[in-house]
Amino acid sequence: MRTQVAIIGAGPAGLLLGQLLSASGIDNVIVEQRSGDYVLGRIRAGVLEPVTVSLLEACGAAARMHRDGLPHEGFELCTGGQRHRIDLQALTGRHVTVYGQTEVTRDLMQARADSGRSTVYEAEDVRVLDFDDGSSPRVQYRLGGELHEIACDFIAGCDGFHGVCRASIPADRLQTFERVYPFGWLGVLADVPPLSHELMYVRHERGFALCSQRSHTRSRYYVQVPSSDRVEQWSDAAFWEELKRRLPDDAAERLVTGDPIEKSIAPLRSFVAEPMRCGRLFLAGDAAHIVPPTGAKGLNLAASDVGYLWQALVDFYKGDVSGVDGYSARCLQRVWKAERFSWWMTGLLHRFPEHSPFEQRMQEAELAYLLESDAGRRVIAENYVGLPV
Ligand code: FAD
Ligand code: DHB
Repeated sequence: MRTQVAIIGAGPAGLLLGQLLSASGIDNVIVEQRSGDYVLGRIRAGVLEPVTVSLLEACGAAARMHRDGLPHEGFELCTGGQRHRIDLQALTGRHVTVYGQTEVTRDLMQARADSGRSTVYEAEDVRVLDFDDGSSPRVQYRLGGELHEIACDFIAGCDGFHGVCRASIPADRLQTFERVYPFGWLGVLADVPPLSHELMYVRHERGFALCSQRSHTRSRYYVQVPSSDRVEQWSDAAFWEELKRRLPDDAAERLVTGDPIEKSIAPLRSFVAEPMRCGRLFLAGDAAHIVPPTGAKGLNLAASDVGYLWQALVDFYKGDVSGVDGYSARCLQRVWKAERFSWWMTGLLHRFPEHSPFEQRMQEAELAYLLESDAGRRVIAENYVGLPV
């Protein structure tokens, strides 16, 4: 088989890139190691920046998001039992859209199926080859025991943090930067009405908590837990009890609990690989970088990488190579700023086991200062809605 762009991974980054390229008449094939149902079963992000929304619009996959997504013009930050609102609309003139990653993925899958483009699911032993010497990259995989090969102009590595693409780049061609946090987020998805019409991020002496939502009838809640905790240790009752203890009193009283549809622990990590290109292999999304989820940036950063890669490839096929050559540097400028925001928000809102009482007071004082200052709230708001592309 031959195509212009072979995309590895059918998560949001790979599917979005596929749709954008198809809309521009660039042929592409997606190769994914899991089944479509498995990909749809992963419960992850929930907050879309305007940049992500406009990319979904650009590839014709935004109709259901516009119908069912919830525009959020602000969110709440709670500390010391007090609630403070960050008015995104007033501070930035923009808002975010609450719409689950599962739904984004479903819409992109449907758009791809409608366009008749090919996606190979359940591909085994995926390999990316000959991307480094310039001319003729190849992708190999097995399906039902049979070996298949795709010849292409470019490979897009959209295969997430544990994928094969970054791992196939020679170690001396990559520099990596990493911080692993000593805690994770225990998350519960449940068909209960959300606590409030906006998201609530909570700093509490027992640890961070987040009250999010997917719709008017489906809620997503998280509590910070030590990295060593296993999800089996947390009964449903223990989860709800811990969440309530971290919420302001009035919120704890209003909380509606119910049977979880999903319960899992996500580890927290900051990670960047530089550069995001090796020859004709490009990395995009979690394949190149990870942020802790506190700033809701991971999916949005994956989308903005894809936006840059799409433009670069469109220009390449018109005879202009500057976008392809500048891809990594352009992405990394935005990536590092989102890394900084996510790291900073994580530092501001979580309980760190190594913190001395002095450092805890510093954290409290920093948050109090930011919330009392117009400039401070603006700093939070403009990062949260997403920096310009
Ligand atoms: P992935 O979604 O990981 O997709 C990669 C795909 O590649 C997968 O389908 C995988 O099966 C496939 N793959 C892997 N290896 C191979 C291989 N060898 N061959 C072929 N295919 C392969 N982000 C936000 O923006 N906002 C949020 O609110 C938010 N909340 C989050 C909450 C949680 C609990 C978690 C865990 C994450 C959250 N994120 C959030 C982050 C966000 O989910 C990720 O950044 C996003 O999924 C990245 O998309 P991706 O397509 O790059 O990678
Ligand atoms: C969700 C996840 C986040 O990391 C965040 O900052 C906001 C919302 C969510 O899953 O809904």
